[in-house]
Amino acid sequence: MAFTIAVAGKGGVGKTTVAGLIVRLLLERHGGPVLAIDADPNTNFHQVLGLKVERTIGELREETLKRIKDLPPGVTKDQYLEYGLQQCLVESNGIDLLAMGRGEGPFCYCAVNHVLRRYMDLLSKNYKYVVLDNEAGLEHLSRRTTQDVDVLLVVSDMNPVALQAAARINRLADELQLRVRKRFLILNNMSDNMRTRLGMEAFRERLAQTGLDLIGEIPIDEMVWSLSLAGKPLSELPPTSPAKLAVKEILEKILRNGGGS
Ligand SMILES: Nc1ncnc2c1ncn2[C@@H]1O[C@H](COP(=O)(O)OP(=O)(O)O)[C@@H](O)[C@H]1O
Ligand SMILES: [Mg+2]
Repeated sequence: MAFTIAVAGKGGVGKTTVAGLIVRLLLERHGGPVLAIDADPNTNFHQVLGLKVERTIGELREETLKRIKDLPPGVTKDQYLEYGLQQCLVESNGIDLLAMGRGEGPFCYCAVNHVLRRYMDLLSKNYKYVVLDNEAGLEHLSRRTTQDVDVLLVVSDMNPVALQAAARINRLADELQLRVRKRFLILNNMSDNMRTRLGMEAFRERLAQTGLDLIGEIPIDEMVWSLSLAGKPLSELPPTSPAKLAVKEILEKILRNGGGS
């Protein structure tokens, strides 16, 4: 069974960066193979991974619904979807990527979604690790059927709005009764004087309000920011990148506590 790590948080806090660094480190230090799932319609997971998406699961769903009555002779809906899913999968060296595209929305395309989810669960079994980059509503996580999530990482910066979003995500995970073994908070875009400026008490209070245990902090990293500005992938970060080193430490904690190897 793939060891599954999901990343969530308010837009702009660094979810995709953290998810991308985790994917890179799982490949470089733990040998992969990794399935990266882009479950945020606004995301740039493919960019940080240096991959190109031709077709999303959302597009496959829409096309299937349009074509369901005139599929080629002898082709069942299940076969059409299984083949389509293979086409959505971006394959590269040790890292494959699946982009969910548009969410399922309020309408029930139950038959199609059910088959798609079954195939996605089957596909996940081919990998040692699955890393999900989620939107704040956790739609994709709430709709997973058979696969548990080993660790949910909620990313935030020290901004009160981002921390409130982290608290909301934590509550949502309860409400949706997500099958998540562990949840942690990651603080991103940290600077040395953050605690001094805020005062230790206020700092602790803000963290406590999220209801999450802090697993680690990632500093502001000029190199991460410059790559993103140039539209370059995180694979180009040098091993000395402070953000990458911080994520490496966090990942090691997760794998030690969470049962991965
Ligand atoms: N630790 C960091 N240091 C410097 N820049 C960062 C850091 N984390 C994220 N960024 C930058 O902030 C922007 C938003 O990050 P991103 O990961 O896309 O956020 P999200 O996926 O939560 O919307 C990107 O330009 C990214 O390069
Ligand atoms: Mg993102």
